[in-house]
Amino acid sequence: MNSLGILYPRIGESPLQELTKNFYLEVSKIPELRSLYLEDLKAAERGIYLFLNQVLGSPQTYSEEGVDPRLRMRHMQWEIDIKMSVDWMNAMIQALDKVPLEQEVREEFLNYFTQVADSMINHDNVA
Ligand code: HEM
Repeated sequence: MNSLGILYPRIGESPLQELTKNFYLEVSKIPELRSLYLEDLKAAERGIYLFLNQVLGSPQTYSEEGVDPRLRMRHMQWEIDIKMSVDWMNAMIQALDKVPLEQEVREEFLNYFTQVADSMINHDNVA
């Protein structure tokens, strides 16, 4: 069970906004990943910010396995292979590095995102 929810009071609103903003700046640097998103990244930024608020505010919003099946469903419209998932994760690691967070909180985020990014893979790209 993920304990991000328990950590929420120690994170607060502003680092979360910073994180999502940084994340999409990083996404913009990876053309293949960037091409999946709409021209205007504002909606995506807001979407993930609200989502994280929800996840952090109530740990029961995700299942025992830690991944919301609806989130995976919503991502089925894109072909997400291992490389795309790793690119996403790398953008998130870069974004996390720029936000001042307690080590424990940072690790929880990394664990959580690693697990979810992995579960978003829906395409097996055999070279
Ligand atoms: C693994 C690779 C991933 C790719 C390629 C990907 C790609 C995308 C794209 C293209 C969108 C649409 C944004 C837009 O409106 O332009 C999106 C939305 C979103 N993604 Fe991902 N995503 C990935 C992983 C994740 C992970 C790990 C999470 C959460 C931890 C996540 C959470 C979300 C949320 C909450 C939205 C907004 C959904 C909505 O509006 O209903 N994504 N993603």
